[in-house]
Amino acid sequence: MRDALGAVQRVLVVGGRSEIAKALVERLHRDRPVDVVLGVRDPRGPGELSFDALDRSSHGAFVEAAFAKGDIDVVLVAAGILGDQPVAERDAAAALAVIETNFVGAVSVLIPIAERLRAQGHGTIVVLSSVAAERARRANFVYGSSKAGLDAFAQGLGDSLAGTGIDVLVVRPGFVRTKMTAALPDGPLATTPEAVAEEIVRGLQRRAHTVWAPARLRFVMAVVRLLPRPLFRRLRM
Ligand SMILES: NC(=O)c1ccc[n+]([C@@H]2O[C@H](COP(=O)([O-])OP(=O)(O)OC[C@H]3O[C@@H](n4cnc5c(N)ncnc54)[C@H](OP(=O)(O)O)[C@@H]3O)[C@@H](O)[C@H]2O)c1
Repeated sequence: MRDALGAVQRVLVVGGRSEIAKALVERLHRDRPVDVVLGVRDPRGPGELSFDALDRSSHGAFVEAAFAKGDIDVVLVAAGILGDQPVAERDAAAALAVIETNFVGAVSVLIPIAERLRAQGHGTIVVLSSVAAERARRANFVYGSSKAGLDAFAQGLGDSLAGTGIDVLVVRPGFVRTKMTAALPDGPLATTPEAVAEEIVRGLQRRAHTVWAPARLRFVMAVVRLLPRPLFRRLRM
C-alpha cells in the first residue's frame, strides 16, 4: 500500500536489469525507502526472482512468488529487446524473438499481474512502450510492431481496470541512452534513463494513463502519425 503521503513502498520490476528500471527505482528511493523485487534472467540473491519473457509457462509462478511477501504498489514491465531490423526482415526466427519478448511475453506476465492487483484492490502497472509504437517506421518496424501490440494491449488493460483502483501507465520514451542503444548514434531528442524516470514519477503522481519522454515527443508524434504514406516513405524514417 502506498504510504500516507502517497509514496510508493513496494515495487516489482519485470526485466529488472533494465537501465530505465534502475533509474526509476533510484528515483523512487529519493522520496522514501522502497522495497524492490526484481524479475531477472540471472537471479543473484534475495529480492531477485527468475524471469524470462520467453518462458511463458513460468510466468504464473513468478507472479505468485513476487506477491508472496505482500502487496505491490507499482509493477514496471521493462523487459525488451531491440533486435536487428535488417536480419529480422529476412529471418522469421529473429523477428519472432522480438515479438515474443516484447509483446507476447509481456502479455503473458501482465495477465497474472493484473489478476493479483485486482485481488489486492490497488496498484499501478507501468508499461515501457515506445514512440516506435505510435507509427511503425521503415527503419525498425519489427520492434515498432512489437511495441504497438504491447501499447494497444496496455491501453485496453487500463480501460478494463478503470474504477477498480488499479491504474495502467503507458510510457512512450524516444531514444534513451542505455545498453539497448549503446551501439547506435543518438536519435532525435535523445534522453537519459534518469529523465525518463522523472517523467514516470510525474505520471504516477498525477495518475496519468500515458507519458512521453521527453514530453514534447507527444506533439512530434502527433504530426508523424498523420503524415500521408507517400510523404512518410520519402522521409525514410
Ligand atoms: N533505450 C531506449 O531507447 C528505449 C526507448 C523506448 C522504449 N524502451 C523500452 O524500455 C525497456 C527497457 O529498456 P532499456 O533502455 O532500459 O534497455 P536495457 O537496459 O537493455 O533493458 C532491457 C532489459 O530487458 C531484459 N530482457 C531482454 N530479454 C529478456 C527476456 N527474454 N526475459 C527477461 N528479460 C529480458 C534485459 O535483460 P538482461 O539484462 O538479462 O539482458 C534487460 O535488462 C524496453 O522494453 C525497451 O524496449 C527503450
